[in-house]
Amino acid sequence: MNRKKRIVLGVSGGIAAFKAASIASQLTQRHYEVRVIMTKSATEFITPLTLQTLSRNPVSIDTFDERNPEVVNHIDLADSADLFLIAPATANLMGKLAHGLADDMLTTTLLATQAPVVLAPAMNVHMYQNPIVEENMTRLRELGYSYIEPGSGQLACGYVGKGRMAEPEEIVEWVENFFLRRQPLRGKKVLITAGPTVEAVDPVRYFTNHSSGKMGYALAQAAQEAGAKVTLISGPVALSVPSGVTRYSVQTAHQMLEKVLEHLPEMDLIIKAAAVADYRPKVVYDQKLKKNAEEMTITLTKNPDIASEVGKRKRSDQVLVGFAAETQNVREHALSKLERKEMDFIVANDVSLEGAGFGVDTNIVTIYDRAGTELSLPLQSKQDLAKQIIEHVGASLI
Ligand code: PMT
Repeated sequence: MNRKKRIVLGVSGGIAAFKAASIASQLTQRHYEVRVIMTKSATEFITPLTLQTLSRNPVSIDTFDERNPEVVNHIDLADSADLFLIAPATANLMGKLAHGLADDMLTTTLLATQAPVVLAPAMNVHMYQNPIVEENMTRLRELGYSYIEPGSGQLACGYVGKGRMAEPEEIVEWVENFFLRRQPLRGKKVLITAGPTVEAVDPVRYFTNHSSGKMGYALAQAAQEAGAKVTLISGPVALSVPSGVTRYSVQTAHQMLEKVLEHLPEMDLIIKAAAVADYRPKVVYDQKLKKNAEEMTITLTKNPDIASEVGKRKRSDQVLVGFAAETQNVREHALSKLERKEMDFIVANDVSLEGAGFGVDTNIVTIYDRAGTELSLPLQSKQDLAKQIIEHVGASLI
């Protein structure tokens, strides 16, 4: 199951506010999480209880009505929205938004959000044609706000003309299409490896590395949000599985190889973010080794290279993305791995840089491909980087 998309439905004060009931109801039935914010004027046209009942969530009206001391309500709603839909959007609401005014719960939340905002205007035809309103709407369009155009016809005020809010069905369809457009990997299958592998010496000791799995898990989440069916093959990490992702837990490089090859035939995209141990102890002792001698020698033997095995076997319609963790000559080593392991892309991180590589929440990478293209992505959270990596490599599948 996909994480439910959260839509903040802003309702401002016009007669079309009554249509917000149908919008809230249809969106909730389609498994969106709907959180309604009303202006005070909107409550003159439709009751908050109606929208609360249909959205199955409390309705916010007053900025200072802070019921949960753990969050600031308007910031929480602003941050958590996947889409901000204003229906109806009155001339007054758009005028305030175009000029950065925030004097109630709805406008305050709108100014704070980074989510895409779509406005469904509704007003009298003469108001709609007023140059001031037109100017405000143009300004908002230029700033990146979208519109669901109003229709023409009989208006509640008695006039006939443009200004009637789009019907709820049209608005709901716009929302559905919006989320479909944002899912470029819909119908694709993605395999991601993450975390370290662990190679036992005896029942209590092992060789491993500092991989926390954060980069791989962020990629799994980003691919899942882009619509893909994601299989995550993970070494031991302390992270929870991103919602909607299927995880297989493994310990050793051999186990990881076996799981990867089992799932390889059905995959469209394979991303190898795991830090696989290149060597393992040649002998794994059944009993705990005793510390008798001053020195001890453990002979290591080479592990299989999973990326190379995938590179050899993959079909021409499958895309293989590797990672390269380097501390020097990053470009040179990365390009050599890209070639040697028959990858389509390699994401190189210089793990000697502060804020990059193992364990930390951020990374700095450059993506190389076989055509010689390079895309450098500066220091940012592993989540933000993962979205860009998925977008970049995912484009080669479409
Ligand atoms: O997990 P985090 O703490 O978030 O850290 C992220 C990371 C640094 C682990 C990640 O960004 C990363 O760089 N992963 C790859 C680490 C690595 O093993 O790099 P490498 O240069 O040694 O290997 C190159 C590629 O071959 C990798 O895709 C690796 O998965 C693969 N490989 C390596 C050895 C092996 N035996 N089998 C492999 O498949």
